[in-house]
Amino acid sequence: MKAIRVAQYGQFKGFVFEDLPSPVPGKGEVLIKVAGSGVNPVDWKVLSGAMKAFIPLELPFTPGVEVAGRVMALGEGVSTLSVGDEVFGFINIVGGYATEVVASADRLAHRPNQLTALQASGVPAVSLTAWQALHEHSQIKAGQRVLIHGAAGGVGSIAVQLARIAGATVIATASAANHDYLQKLGASQLIDYTQTRFETVVEPVDVVLDLVGGDTQTRSWAVLKPGGVLVSPVSPPDANQAMAANATGKHFATRSDAAQLNNIAGLFESGELTIEVHVLPLSEAEEALRKSMGRHLQGKLVLDASL
Ligand SMILES: NC(=O)c1ccc[n+]([C@@H]2O[C@H](COP(=O)([O-])OP(=O)(O)OC[C@H]3O[C@@H](n4cnc5c(N)ncnc54)[C@H](OP(=O)(O)O)[C@@H]3O)[C@@H](O)[C@H]2O)c1
Repeated sequence: MKAIRVAQYGQFKGFVFEDLPSPVPGKGEVLIKVAGSGVNPVDWKVLSGAMKAFIPLELPFTPGVEVAGRVMALGEGVSTLSVGDEVFGFINIVGGYATEVVASADRLAHRPNQLTALQASGVPAVSLTAWQALHEHSQIKAGQRVLIHGAAGGVGSIAVQLARIAGATVIATASAANHDYLQKLGASQLIDYTQTRFETVVEPVDVVLDLVGGDTQTRSWAVLKPGGVLVSPVSPPDANQAMAANATGKHFATRSDAAQLNNIAGLFESGELTIEVHVLPLSEAEEALRKSMGRHLQGKLVLDASL
C-alpha cells in the first residue's frame, strides 16, 4: 500500500508518497481499501506543528482524518461490519492519506448509495462538525435565524443545508462568486463579506456559526439576540463579550460519532443533503493542502486513492 508520510513538522518538509506494508486490523478494527480521503484545514494545522503541544504525534505520520472505501478484513470482535462493505468515517486525527487504512469499526457507517465513494470521503468531518455545532451546541429550532460565516466551505455548505432542514432561516457570508451556490443549498440572505460589513445588514439572529474566527467572530456579538448562541469550532469566543451580549459562546472539537454519521447518511439517502467535491490524486496531496490553506474552496476537496 502507499501513503503520504510526514517525517518532520513544518510546511510540507519531508513530505513523501511511499510504499508501506499493509496495516493489520486489531481488536475492534477493520482494514479498509481506501477509495478517497477528505482534505480538511486540520490536516495542514497538524502538519505545521501548531497542534503538537496538545496532540503529540509520533513521526513519521500520515495526515488525513477521514476516508471512504471497502472493508477488506475484520479484526477480532467486529460484528457490525462485513468484508466487502462500503463504509466511510472520521477515522482519527491522522492516517487517512493512504491507499489502505485501519480504523475502529465504531467510527464507521455504511456509505449511502446516493454518494460515490469519492463524494462520501469528503462527508464525515465536515458533516459531523456542522451537525454537532447546530444540534448539540446551539440546539437550533424551526423558525430560528442562523448566521453562518464561511458558508461556502466544507463545513459551511453542509451547515447551510442542515439548518435549512431543521426549519431555520439561513443567513450566510461568502464572496459574491459563491452566492448562487449557497442560494441553491438553502440560504435566504447572502452577504458578500468583501463588500459589506455583515453587522450593518443582518437583523438579530438566534445562532451564529463561526467558521472564520478573528474579527468576524468578534463582530458577531452585535447581531446576536439576547439568549442567543455563538458557536465556533475555530477559536473560543470571548467570555466577557458573551456576558455583555447576554448570550452564550461555545467552542468545540469535532468528535467521531457513528450514530450521528448514520443520521447524516440517511439525509444523503433521502436526497435532502448534497455535497460538492473537487478531486485531486492522492499523489498530489501537497497541492491539495496548499489549495485548502488558501481558504477559498467551494464545497469539499478530496484525494482519489486510485490515482
Ligand atoms: N475544532 C474542530 O474540531 C474543527 C472541525 C472542523 C473545522 N474546523 C475549523 O473550521 C474552519 C472551517 O472549516 P472548513 O473545512 O469549512 O474550511 P474551508 O472549506 O477551507 O472553508 C473555506 C471557505 O471559507 C470562506 N471564507 C474565507 N474567509 C471568509 C470570511 N472572512 N468570511 C466568510 N467566509 C470566508 C471561503 O469563502 P469565499 O471563497 O467566498 O471567501 C471558503 O468557501 C477551519 O478553520 C477549520 O479548521 C474545526
